[in-house]
Amino acid sequence: MRNKVTKAIFPVAGLGTRFLPATKSVPKEIMTLVDQPLVQYAIDEARAAGIKEFIFVTSRGKGALEDYFDHAPQLEQELKKKGKEKLLEILRSTNMDSGEIAYIRQHKALGLGHAVWCARRLIGNEPFAVMLPDDVIAADKPCLQQMVEAYEETGGNMVAAMEVPADKASSYGILDVAEDMGAMVKVGGMVEKPEPGTAPSNLAVIGRYILSPQILRNLNQKQTGAGGEIQLTDAIAQQIGSEEGVYGYRFNGQRYDCGSKAGFLQATVAFGLAREDLRDDLEAYLHEIVAARKAAE
Ligand code: UTP
Repeated sequence: MRNKVTKAIFPVAGLGTRFLPATKSVPKEIMTLVDQPLVQYAIDEARAAGIKEFIFVTSRGKGALEDYFDHAPQLEQELKKKGKEKLLEILRSTNMDSGEIAYIRQHKALGLGHAVWCARRLIGNEPFAVMLPDDVIAADKPCLQQMVEAYEETGGNMVAAMEVPADKASSYGILDVAEDMGAMVKVGGMVEKPEPGTAPSNLAVIGRYILSPQILRNLNQKQTGAGGEIQLTDAIAQQIGSEEGVYGYRFNGQRYDCGSKAGFLQATVAFGLAREDLRDDLEAYLHEIVAARKAAE
């Protein structure tokens, strides 16, 4: 029997420079998409996939993120007194049980691979998921759940993969496909942020992973890669050709890069339009401003 994936690492220790000045005081991961912080979308997705332990790798200045997961008894009491049952239910649905959540500090932003390595003692010798909360994925079946189901067949290491335009490939880790099996590909190579024109495919890795504990051992070597950072991609690439192997999984769903301004704005519109209580007003407004812009041209 394969070990179940019950632990997830959420690396949130990055500097979030693309969102300065907001990220001077607000961690990127608690910026609000419609009415939930980004991190809540990731927690909900992880829970749906069967995750029971949530490990955050944080850094200086992320206090507000840690506070977000505290229970709010006073607020709950107030809502109860006022009979605001619906809000109370929403608030309670975000509560985490004691011991379910852990915070580990990354002392310096040495890269995503290093952030994951910081959680090694809490993972031990089990497979684990890694989720980057700034990749928000709208999907009928949550992305990590799709991956866990696929992983039950393959084991090994699995990365979420998505087709990207050739001119965008140098912003991602890109897969060299050894064998294409439809939704799943067997990975023959991985390159982090390839130079323009050198990408081995247009299949990019995005922020969902299921990894074997061997990746943590690979990260012990603390090798630096692209951008002088300790890259998770490099530690995963070391497993290519090993018995456990590396797979790419083409998930069903729409991914939004909420670590970038354009991606965050697109997600705000898309998630707003998906909400029954907001759709009509938002759609009417979008039509109105697009028409006004066209008229002004
Ligand atoms: P990004 O590449 O998006 O970096 O990191 P960033 O610092 O968050 O944002 P920008 O580029 O400066 O705007 C991808 C993920 O890896 C985490 C980040 O928090 C994010 O979830 N990360 C990155 C760490 O936890 N530690 C690091 O040293 C680097």
